[in-house]
Amino acid sequence: MVSLLKEENIAVGGVSLDNHLILAAGVLGTTGASLKRMLSLGAGGVVTKSIGPYPKGGHKGPCVQVYDGAVMNAMGLPNPSEDFKVELSGLEGRPVIVSIFGGDPDEFSKVASWFSGMASVRGFELNVSCPHAEGYGAQIGSNPELVQECTEAVVKTGIPVWVKLTPNVTDITESGLAAEEGGASAVVAVNTVRAMRISTAMRRPVLGNGSGGLSGPAIFPVAVKCVYDLYEACRIPVVGCGGISDADNVIEMIMAGASAVEIGSGVLDNVGIFSEICGDLYSEEGENIEDLRGCAHA
Ligand SMILES: Cc1cc2nc3c(=O)[nH]c(=O)nc-3n(C[C@H](O)[C@H](O)[C@H](O)COP(=O)(O)O)c2cc1C
Repeated sequence: MVSLLKEENIAVGGVSLDNHLILAAGVLGTTGASLKRMLSLGAGGVVTKSIGPYPKGGHKGPCVQVYDGAVMNAMGLPNPSEDFKVELSGLEGRPVIVSIFGGDPDEFSKVASWFSGMASVRGFELNVSCPHAEGYGAQIGSNPELVQECTEAVVKTGIPVWVKLTPNVTDITESGLAAEEGGASAVVAVNTVRAMRISTAMRRPVLGNGSGGLSGPAIFPVAVKCVYDLYEACRIPVVGCGGISDADNVIEMIMAGASAVEIGSGVLDNVGIFSEICGDLYSEEGENIEDLRGCAHA
């Protein structure tokens, strides 16, 4: 297997990381204790649960359904809003990225202002990509003009801004270029793929919200294609996310153009996934990431 040489100082999109593997938003990132635990279990950085302008209870259940090779969720962005600040104490100096969302640039700016002075925040990740939250997420992310305006609003804090994109658009590079134009330091591809299953016994959708977002190994090829296209279109780094479950998947994402990766659903099966992948990914004979990144492009 192709392996990577571990660099001394890893920095992606203005954020320094302990390794190239980051906990994705919303999966075990809902409390300070779980964020600390994932760092202690080998994550090179962690993204928090997405935090919005008002406390939100989320959608009615069932909110998560696990299948062989896929997870479908419609959490509905439950979050405690500004009160989440207390969860970040004790994480000062650690590689923590706060995921935020809002319904317009002013709301993004307001939420960012709560966290921007905190020593425990290395970066923001803008959730303009959740496929199941009315007025938020992908409803913003599918409009490049809004993506640019929301990015500009948060870039003003002076903290690096990553913009997490939705695959549920015809051309993801339009969103990526809008984020870049707005001053983003990196784009993250991707959030979940819009999905639905119906229980034939109940004659109803299995999720309480009806539809939701698909993640896990089933979406890996979708994520690779999005990373590949963004790498060609954008100058800022691309962070790959979607269906990663082993070190070879990480190498494949890097060959498509990723500078780092995020892992979400893989953690649900195995909280030791970060240290396991690091063990397989890095070796003293490994290749420099600069030589591998984007090498699949003609
Ligand atoms: C239960 C669950 C909750 C999630 N919550 C969030 C969230 O709050 N914000 C966000 O940007 N993405 C959220 N996501 C999407 C993940 O961060 C990630 O983009 C997606 O699951 C694809 O990666 P994966 O296949 O490694 O899980 C969530 C995913 C799951 C499964």
